[in-house]
Amino acid sequence: MRIDRRGFAKSLSAGTAGVMVARWTAPVTCVATAQTVALKDLVPRGWLIGVALNQRQSDGIDATAVDLVTRQFNSVTPENLLKFESVQRQPGVFTFDAQDRYVAFGADRGMAVIGHTLVWHSQTPGWVWAGNGGGLADRATMLERMQTHIATVVGRYKGRIRGWDVVNEALNDDGTLRDSPWRRGIGDEYIAKAFEFANQADPNAELYYNDFNLATRPGKRAGAIRIIRDLQQRGLRIDAVGEQGHWRLDSPTTTEIDQTITELRATGLAVMITELDVNLLPPAERPAPGQPPSPASNPFVNGLPDDVQQALARRYADAFGVFLKHRDDITRVTFWGVSDGDSWLNRGRVNHPLLWDRQRQPKRAFDEVARVLSETSTSSR
Ligand code: XIL
Repeated sequence: MRIDRRGFAKSLSAGTAGVMVARWTAPVTCVATAQTVALKDLVPRGWLIGVALNQRQSDGIDATAVDLVTRQFNSVTPENLLKFESVQRQPGVFTFDAQDRYVAFGADRGMAVIGHTLVWHSQTPGWVWAGNGGGLADRATMLERMQTHIATVVGRYKGRIRGWDVVNEALNDDGTLRDSPWRRGIGDEYIAKAFEFANQADPNAELYYNDFNLATRPGKRAGAIRIIRDLQQRGLRIDAVGEQGHWRLDSPTTTEIDQTITELRATGLAVMITELDVNLLPPAERPAPGQPPSPASNPFVNGLPDDVQQALARRYADAFGVFLKHRDDITRVTFWGVSDGDSWLNRGRVNHPLLWDRQRQPKRAFDEVARVLSETSTSSR
């Protein structure tokens, strides 16, 4: 049964009130209530709500996560499988088996399947940029490699992958173009070329520019807008811009998020939050290999204290409040991982950045996101 958002708001607040009263007498939680609702049923009409899958999930091995993803989301992104190094580790040798299973995973469930990512400085094998003499390949060679890769990968999933992060992370924090090997080999035009090749390979796929820190760094945001305008002036197609959304509890502020969506949307493009998570750990150097992280850098090994759990829930509620204010500007929000245990933000420590905990139970942050979505007027759905 599809629960409408108003009806859900009532049932959730009734449930929550019950918890308030019952908390000291019986271990009732609103988790059970929350589990019966699906984010995909609560988001505004036309919105995609997505999640990044790791290979154990898209292969169907992690059955608990598969069940959760199937119930909650209507879009998926591959966490690593469609990166250059996963698809074409050796020149001309393309690997597509796990990739095909990922695309089938989404297609079987009627989800919007996202492609991530075609042109990036990271997780790309060195041969892509290498010339014969040990230096960089010449421009024509590098362009040829880019085109072959894009034509092969985008072409294979033509009509089945809804949209592609064509270029990922091309900017420095100050808004200048990153000194990536793609740029060194091809020149600034490498971005335009990537969009041109992607459009040729699938004229019906949506094409995105994706980057991080667009909300915290106004200069970087301006750089993203310059990239978008440049593509538009060249008559090339770009359909949306993604702010990754790797955020912290206090940064970016909701004002910065609001402003960022407004400014990006002013280019005429749709805005997507493409890799949302909230890092709760203090910044810290990686410990030497084999060494454990210092206790100070890893404060939540034994779980999240109540106040931080609450702060995380409030943070997500506030962020979704801003997203909903921009419900006509935003077309997709994707979380970067299913549950806390899956997150790339652990990296040897114990982080808690997502809506589901390590036991795959919904956290208070889930309840809050569901509540904020359900309290929003149903008029736009
Ligand atoms: C991360 C993955 O989550 C990790 O598993 C991998 O080891 C490194 O990459 N920006 C991006 C994503 O665009 O592709 C990155 O994903 C996170 C940062």
